Amino acid sequence: MVVDIGTGDGRFVLAAAAASPECLVIGLDADARAMIEASRRAAGPARRGGLPNVLFVAAAAEGMPTELEGRADLVTVHFPWGSLLGGLIGSDSQILGGLARIAHHGAEIRTLLSVTERDLAAAGGRFDPDAIRSPTTAGLRLCEVRRATAEEIAASNSTWAKRLRAATDRPVWLIRWERA
Ligand SMILES: C[S@@+](CC[C@H](N)C(=O)[O-])C[C@H]1O[C@@H](n2cnc3c(N)ncnc32)[C@H](O)[C@@H]1O
Repeated sequence: MVVDIGTGDGRFVLAAAAASPECLVIGLDADARAMIEASRRAAGPARRGGLPNVLFVAAAAEGMPTELEGRADLVTVHFPWGSLLGGLIGSDSQILGGLARIAHHGAEIRTLLSVTERDLAAAGGRFDPDAIRSPTTAGLRLCEVRRATAEEIAASNSTWAKRLRAATDRPVWLIRWERA
């Protein structure tokens, strides 16, 4: 099972579900309206892009549904903003703990971040990729922090990355954790 947190318009979820029909792919976002179109499309007939292996959940990352606990093989967060971004860059144990809780042991938590001073002000934090430490209290082991490649950014199917011209105009960081 794959869970995409802060999924926005759900493009990553639809693409991942179409690529792996045997895998349940869940998009979760605090803003239900963002997911309406993708949710309608997934619920439609197969000839119109319907995907029975897709679910969208309206919830905040700070309050993960208990039904997801320990279930995910992969948790993704692509180009977060607001409290989700603030939680990741500030190593907020509520956000990181929520990501850890829905992953089973050994599962990967993969995030792509692109942050400017303006984003940081809105998220109420600062971002220093070299200062990210393994947040042991959240049950996560830090595996990797590095600049993301153009292929990795493209694979996120992120509308937001396109809007930001993230692959070309601003740095994007890949941060990978493993559920300890
Ligand atoms: C910039 S958009 C990115 C959407 C999508 N992942 C993409 O790459 O196109 C950030 C999304 O994070 C969601 N978000 C922000 N804080 C959140 C939180 N605490 N819990 C869940 N979703 C959150 C917003 O509602 C928004 O849809």
